[in-house]
Amino acid sequence: MPRGPTPSQAAAALKAGSLVILPTETVYGLGADAGDASAVARLFEAKGRPRFNPLIAHVADAAAATRIGAFDDRAQALAAAFWPGPLTLVLPYRDGGGVCDLARAGLETVALRVPAHATAQAVLRAFGGPVVAPSANRSGRPSPTTFHDAVEETGFAAAAAVDGGACTVGLESTVVACIGPDLQLLRPGGLDRAAIEAVVGPLAEAAADAKRSPGRLARHYAPSAPLRLEAVEPRAGEAYLGFGPGTARWNLSPAGDLREAAANLFAFLRAADRTRPAGIAVAPIPREGLGEAINDRLKRAAGFVG
Ligand code: TXA
Ligand code: MG
Repeated sequence: MPRGPTPSQAAAALKAGSLVILPTETVYGLGADAGDASAVARLFEAKGRPRFNPLIAHVADAAAATRIGAFDDRAQALAAAFWPGPLTLVLPYRDGGGVCDLARAGLETVALRVPAHATAQAVLRAFGGPVVAPSANRSGRPSPTTFHDAVEETGFAAAAAVDGGACTVGLESTVVACIGPDLQLLRPGGLDRAAIEAVVGPLAEAAADAKRSPGRLARHYAPSAPLRLEAVEPRAGEAYLGFGPGTARWNLSPAGDLREAAANLFAFLRAADRTRPAGIAVAPIPREGLGEAINDRLKRAAGFVG
């Protein structure tokens, strides 16, 4: 598999129907031409992802997004405030928008994101259309936040892999549905709730309805070792992910900074898991700000969310 393709080579591979590993500022994605149902079918296959779980379509700017989704005033305000960046908007799909049925899992809505990562931007501009890109992990595993981890997860299925360095955000995008009367937070993520609510007011909680949030599988983001949360210290045989002052081998943030902890979370879970511990214990993480998404991922990785 060629490494280090230029943005135009990566775009050409996508045009040819191949899968391409792409960096974004949140996590690495495994990309495919959103309009190519055969490429998208191979993408679901490579990830082992159930076909009822729709994909995010990535575009270079909000103008391209408005040709695919129907924006109301609130969606427009969010796009203006946070794109490019770690926010995904779920909107009514516009017929002819170029995102195939399979990519949308047959829904009448579409998830759209404009990533900020310079290399992602360059590939999207060279490609000139929507690129669907789920996180580049195999289904149910932690998302890759480094080039190495992305290639380890799904490199076998990719014709090319673009190295964009370590992801600076480290958590997947925040997903907000702008379809009903109330905006809904479908997935907490790399953009915290307070920033969004400052623009559009309070967000409703996502209904437990699988149709509205089909990707929220119970066990997700999980390493192989069992996880023990809110652990003040490790037990014998456990790897320990610390937070705040201390001597843990994997300290998510010695300074107690949630941004730093988010950026380290998945990479540290993977690194700890590679040592084949009896379990992985994780220190308590505050719930405010990015802590909401960090705790969400940890709970799902531990299998606590049904
Ligand atoms: O940061 C990210 O969002 C990364 C990077 C690569 O962009 N991508 C990512 O994709 O996390 P994925 O496929 O792992 O997660 C997409 C989430 C899933 O929970 C999926 O169910 C939800 O978005 N989603 C996609 N389309 C949807 C729709 N029409 N309605 C509701 N949820 C949708
Ligand atoms: Mg994912």
